[in-house]
Amino acid sequence: MSGTETSTMEPVAGGNAGMESDYLQVRGLSVEFDGFKAVSNVDLTLLQGDLRFLIGPNGAGKTTIIDAITGLVKPTGSIQKSGVELVGRKVHQIARLGVGRTFQTASVFEELSVLQNLDIAAGAGRSVWTMLRRRPAEIPEGIAEVLETIGLQDLRDTPAGVLAHGQKQWLEIGMLLVQNASVLLLDEPVAGMSHEEREETGNLLRRIGGERTVVVVEHDMDFMRAFATSVTVLARGQVLAEGSVAEVQANPKVQEVYLGTAAGGEELEEIAAESADGPTASTEKKG
Ligand SMILES: Nc1ncnc2c1ncn2[C@@H]1O[C@H](COP(=O)(O)OP(=O)(O)OP(=O)(O)O)[C@@H](O)[C@H]1O
Ligand SMILES: [Mg+2]
Repeated sequence: MSGTETSTMEPVAGGNAGMESDYLQVRGLSVEFDGFKAVSNVDLTLLQGDLRFLIGPNGAGKTTIIDAITGLVKPTGSIQKSGVELVGRKVHQIARLGVGRTFQTASVFEELSVLQNLDIAAGAGRSVWTMLRRRPAEIPEGIAEVLETIGLQDLRDTPAGVLAHGQKQWLEIGMLLVQNASVLLLDEPVAGMSHEEREETGNLLRRIGGERTVVVVEHDMDFMRAFATSVTVLARGQVLAEGSVAEVQANPKVQEVYLGTAAGGEELEEIAAESADGPTASTEKKG
């Protein structure tokens, strides 16, 4: 990190710079599958207000890190949320501690409406029948607020199955918000989205990010450049580089690792082109 040394850490745009907010602290995280090290000794420090992008070639271990944080795979090492150890806890306990995630493929109840999906996510001991019978006038305040945040008020009675791709992802994010997740781990949220949907998703993440920690796994470099406050680059299960967008783009190791994978070719071209031009905040180009 560069710049003035007024504080020890340097939360970037959108961050609550002065706050004591070591939201998620990952230390020495490793995950093995039958002797294969998918994640190897990873350290991550995520602060409140951080919109952290996790990038890297296919198979780098990005999803496995999210799986480890949320309890779906068993890691070694330590994952602390505001000082509470998560390793060893069950999936539902970790969710209850405010750590939420989305999957590479959307997982909403397709036959149920937007509102019903949010209602079920909010849970709170109400029976499904109570929720299904309730009249629209009775939408709880928290859910109404989330509906507005994710921009789906007008579609609240629409079955989730007929939503556009982008809208389904927003609904999923809304389902994390009604659960009061303060750490959101999003696995390729803009894959398959139109340019407009990406833009709206980025703005949504900014809106909800201020008082939360948002981690975005993405292959879309334009999206990363436009919205990341910090970036961690993974390769073969290890952290290769970390810093601002400009810093990781200028890093020769990062350029090299993208060169080494066929799947990373397109991303490398973007990275190389961007390094030549110098970093910009543009979200334009491509079609
Ligand atoms: N359940 C599993 N059993 C065995 N190997 C696995 C398992 N899950 C992941 N792996 C392997 O671990 C490595 C990391 O996979 P992971 O899905 O975390 O990569 P990724 O960075 O998310 O990739 P992508 O960008 O393609 O989604 C890969 O080599 C993958 O094949
Ligand atoms: Mg993945």
